[in-house]
Amino acid sequence: MVQLSGITPSGHAQLGNYLGALRRWAADGGPDDLYFVSDLHAMTTAHNPARLRSLATEQLAVLVAAGVAPERLFVQSDLVRELGALTWVLECTCAYGEAARMIQFKEKSAARSTSVEGGGQAGVRLSLLTYPVLMAADILAVGADEVPVGEDQRQHVELARTLARRFNSTYGEVFVVPEATLPPAGARVRDLAEPTRKMSKSAENSAGVVFVLDEPDQIRRKVRRARTDGDSAPVYDPENRPGVSNLLDILAACAGGDPAQLADKYPSYGVLKDAVADAVIEELRPVRDGTLALLDDVGELERIRKAGAERATERSAHRVSAALRMVGAA
Ligand code: TRP
Repeated sequence: MVQLSGITPSGHAQLGNYLGALRRWAADGGPDDLYFVSDLHAMTTAHNPARLRSLATEQLAVLVAAGVAPERLFVQSDLVRELGALTWVLECTCAYGEAARMIQFKEKSAARSTSVEGGGQAGVRLSLLTYPVLMAADILAVGADEVPVGEDQRQHVELARTLARRFNSTYGEVFVVPEATLPPAGARVRDLAEPTRKMSKSAENSAGVVFVLDEPDQIRRKVRRARTDGDSAPVYDPENRPGVSNLLDILAACAGGDPAQLADKYPSYGVLKDAVADAVIEELRPVRDGTLALLDDVGELERIRKAGAERATERSAHRVSAALRMVGAA
């Protein structure tokens, strides 16, 4: 079994990424699994090249420090030749309408049409439309059969399935048909300042976002300022009390226990927030320390990156060559 998943360096890794994905990749990764920093996906909207490069390096270090085995890791742009070629082949397998109906494209292009790049939907980068096809190439190139992703990425994995089947039946069997696996519910971390929203590394306002590399007192400050929905005592009720319920979820994810029962243990917000801050600081401490140490050891990080690139290329080059051959392009 090959499991593959990626994290896009569109910002600094945050607590939700760690609890919802990275920590799980570290814990249940099998020997053939692959995890990667999807830096090419961070270019679908206006981006800064130097920042992208440094965020990709940082993200790789965070993954290693989080305990994902270095031999299962790679950076997507190191495979740009294979993935670029396969993306083209898959674009030639995909209908325009299939890409245009992706919910994320519709939402993001609608939101961006009033932004700086302007020009209505016609002004967004073409890659915002085609990025699910690159994602399909990520998945199909390495022969992944399981793709653990959040709900928002499910439709993209469906597209990868459709394209794999269509390619195989049109040109011949090359691709494994992948399946999306939803991570177990639980650690769905919300923004501390706006608990109706998911915590996000690319949020405009980072007051409610705990970054993996935040210093302990920054974490404490953010947790102390978290919104708690006004009522007098902590209660676990995600629907009506999203703020305090988020804190209880975070506490449970970091220190163990059941969020509803934890509510009874903490009679006041002050005590609860201190406990949450302590638990988050302790949970992130080794990841933060390990990341900073790796970022200081450029040689070691380079070595990990290079070895990862070689292994991932080896795992995908033959499939990409076969696909090119079968479409008559080699
Ligand atoms: N698009 C995914 C996200 O935004 C990241 C990603 C890119 C990915 N390629 C992938 C995830 C391939 C799984 C498999 O979260």
